[in-house]
Amino acid sequence: MGGTCTAVIGLQWGDEGKGKIVDVLAGGHDAVVRFNGGANAGHSVVVGNERYALHLVPSGILFPGVKAVVGNGVVVDPEVLLEEIDGLEARGVDTSGLIISNRAHVVMPYHKLEDAVREDAAGKGGAAIGTTRRGIGPAYADKAQRLTAVRVGDLLNQEVLRRKVEIACCSKAPIVGDSSAEVDPVKVCERMLGCGRRLGERVQDTTYLLHDMLAEGGRLLFEGANATLLDVDHGTYPFVTASSTTVLGIGAGTGVPDRCIGAVLGVAKAYSTRVGAGPMPTEQDNEIGNWIRERGNEYGTTTGRPRRVGWIDLVALRYAVMINGVTHLCVTLLDVLSGLDELRLCTGYRYRGQVTERFVPDAAELSEVEPIYETMPGFSGEITNVRRFDELPAQAQAYLKRISAFVRAPIGYVSVGPERSQIIAVEPIGVEQEPIA
Ligand code: IMP
Repeated sequence: MGGTCTAVIGLQWGDEGKGKIVDVLAGGHDAVVRFNGGANAGHSVVVGNERYALHLVPSGILFPGVKAVVGNGVVVDPEVLLEEIDGLEARGVDTSGLIISNRAHVVMPYHKLEDAVREDAAGKGGAAIGTTRRGIGPAYADKAQRLTAVRVGDLLNQEVLRRKVEIACCSKAPIVGDSSAEVDPVKVCERMLGCGRRLGERVQDTTYLLHDMLAEGGRLLFEGANATLLDVDHGTYPFVTASSTTVLGIGAGTGVPDRCIGAVLGVAKAYSTRVGAGPMPTEQDNEIGNWIRERGNEYGTTTGRPRRVGWIDLVALRYAVMINGVTHLCVTLLDVLSGLDELRLCTGYRYRGQVTERFVPDAAELSEVEPIYETMPGFSGEITNVRRFDELPAQAQAYLKRISAFVRAPIGYVSVGPERSQIIAVEPIGVEQEPIA
């Protein structure tokens, strides 16, 4: 196999700026590949004066000649996908490189209703997850359940689709309400067949496509959605998403085996954020948190919800580095912290009277931990124009070095602003491309 595989994975609770890192690297690759999640993810990429908010389309779409592949592990809402394609094309972006796995599962109209109905019911007992209500959990549940699942390839076959939708609508009607248009099989089929007709030529067996590319020396960049602490197996269950969000999901979600993956870029904010419910030991529900939220514009790309904000949690981050086998740490949004007198880093948890440096990937247990902090001097001044590590304020350098040493991963990149060019390549993987705009 002559090709290379690089992975970009979020190490916290999402929104770490993975899209930006993918965007920096995409031009040096032949394909950007999504392997998990769906339209719950939101990537903002800024090129020149244009901000692109992408949910399903891999960020590589902004580079001419780079394929954007949606792998079999993704759950695809075809209406959202088509809206994104139309939006990109209206802004002059060529989307011909977008390819979708015929085996990716479809988020059907009733999945979004089901997500909302379940969340509302759980909310009455104070147990809602705070999902994005994009139908992600129900779509993955049906994938495992099989009888009611629809795959992207089915959208191209009227008979198969009709049969599956009839079964699905029967079983979903008691959950979402019999009279809902979302469980009317004729209407649902019509909507989905319309999407299938428009997506048709983009639908392929992406496993062979990726292996063929690798055999020809292709360079693949895998773009993780959501993030490690939201992983269905390794995250803060049950306050997680429904897919494998770590590097471990790449094999199942694309058919490309683990041994092909070389560099693993783990992306972490210089602080912590979380959207939705679930424990977050370092949360700062106070002035500091509000200050960081406003400076960092910490509002959801997908739902617009204000994000919960806290200090960096190195216990959680070291765990995420371990799970993913991170080779390069990418610290983002460092510029947001400029102006604080001091920075706090969580380096341990006090849990039931004991001090531990081990993460607790269970929501109930994690909600009991008390963070133990180290304090370091803050930095000030404008750092968004800095392009070399040694030109950062000494306190910022010390902060980054402490993070790297604690989590035991070298720093590859530091992001100091939203634009593609606002990046410090400390130990680069060597495939950045000059900005196209
Ligand atoms: P779901 O993925 O919509 O089922 O939501 C499950 C949990 O994951 C909720 O707390 C969401 O806010 C969170 N979540 C899912 N995707 C993302 C993401 O891309 N960034 C941040 N949070 C996310």
